[in-house]
Amino acid sequence: MMEVLKVKGGKPLSGQIKAAGAKNAMTKLLVASLLSDKKCTFYNVPNIGDVEITVNLCKEIGSEIKWDKKEKILEIVTPELKTSYVPQKYSGSNRIPILMIGALLGRTDEDIIVPTIGGDLIGSRPVDLHINALHKLGARIEYREMKKEGAYFAQAHQGLKGSIITLNYPSVGATENTMLAAVRAKGTTLIKNAAIEPEIIDLILFLQKLGANIMVDVDRTICIQHANQFHEVEHTVLTDRNEVASYAMAAISTKGRVFIEGAEHHNMIAFLNKLREIGGGFQVKKNGIEFFYENGLRGGLHLETDVHPGFMTDWQQPFVVLMTQAQGASVFHETVYENRFGYTHTLKTMGADIELFTQCLGGKSCRFASSDHHHSIVVKGPTPLKSTDISIPDLRAGFAYVMAALIAGETSTISNVDFLDRGYEELVAKLSSMGADITRVPAPKKGAKGALQNMLAETRV
Ligand code: UD1
Repeated sequence: MMEVLKVKGGKPLSGQIKAAGAKNAMTKLLVASLLSDKKCTFYNVPNIGDVEITVNLCKEIGSEIKWDKKEKILEIVTPELKTSYVPQKYSGSNRIPILMIGALLGRTDEDIIVPTIGGDLIGSRPVDLHINALHKLGARIEYREMKKEGAYFAQAHQGLKGSIITLNYPSVGATENTMLAAVRAKGTTLIKNAAIEPEIIDLILFLQKLGANIMVDVDRTICIQHANQFHEVEHTVLTDRNEVASYAMAAISTKGRVFIEGAEHHNMIAFLNKLREIGGGFQVKKNGIEFFYENGLRGGLHLETDVHPGFMTDWQQPFVVLMTQAQGASVFHETVYENRFGYTHTLKTMGADIELFTQCLGGKSCRFASSDHHHSIVVKGPTPLKSTDISIPDLRAGFAYVMAALIAGETSTISNVDFLDRGYEELVAKLSSMGADITRVPAPKKGAKGALQNMLAETRV
């Protein structure tokens, strides 16, 4: 049944929550477990849609999985592959299927078939860096048109061989795909200009336990020697820094105070610096971080998203909502995705003062400098936000809208909540526990008959 969120804003968030395991690590760790036939046990597994999708995908490939959602423990073992065809139904669901190529190349002689991938509607999301790197390791990959959409066909009949790969941009996905293939590529692989996000380091820790010799140099080079032998693995998934930042910003923008147990300081440095610049309060404690509103928020911020250790692009959307509540003008320059400000149109209808630019505003010029993409904005605050009916376009914009609705005075109705389910564990329960007025209800029916039913439903409440 289609459901929507009803959010009545205007209340400060207050209380304590526990951070979940990281979506962007857990989904990749499941795929990485396919490299061997050994049992892997994961702790701190987030109960979110993207993990569910990846679990189902791994089961189709041949994995046996036991997932205790209450205890957050998941065991996976893949004694043999049942198929190396990623069913079409997964092609639009997230960014995981393309990583199947790196994980399975060294494990099967069959073609690995991956229908065209999807993900959130942000930018064109190409996979050229993945394909070029895997080619260099000895894979043959072709794109073939099929009935409805295309698919990648990949094989490494001649075996994989270590190589030196230089990424022309430190893509997270391309780095992961290359690392996975390199674990089974004979000899040594160097990935230069690699991504070094905390979730990549978590994958590196896992791959070392699995049997690879692997290290990261200070100059963004990852060095991998193939695994001679595979081992069983026990691994505790790192905390979701995106979830932590999301609730931190929701707390501060509603003038509240929230302690997030499990928030890891060393993965939040760029975020905390920006928070301090605008006067957002935080205190790092023994087992988490407390976030709070103090004496107003200052604008005058210049914020550029970047690859790690820079300010993460997934923090950008809720930070823009936060800055609608700060005194003065702030500049945002999005350098990771060319098209990640589409969500600001809805914020403007809610009353935000935001102007979009195709130029690189502020510091360095980026890859999108001479393109027509609106990848910089100026946001002026403080502006009150009005409640409205909102449709979510992607995961992080979705949380930004929830935040805007929590700030606004009246009730907003938010649809397309499936996007939030993909990445936020128990969103309604967590926000309610902090005092938010938020409920999940069946979506209103459309049309004349629907209008009557909605009216009756509302009078019943
Ligand atoms: C991952 C994260 C996402 C985060 C992003 C950047 C997951 C599931 N998602 O996405 O939350 O926003 O890292 O931190 O972990 N690019 C190319 N060619 C390629 C690959 C990427 O041009 O072959 C470009 C993309 O279009 C984008 C940029 O590189 O502009 C960054 O993409 P990438 O780092 O690969 O992000 P994802 O792994 O998709």
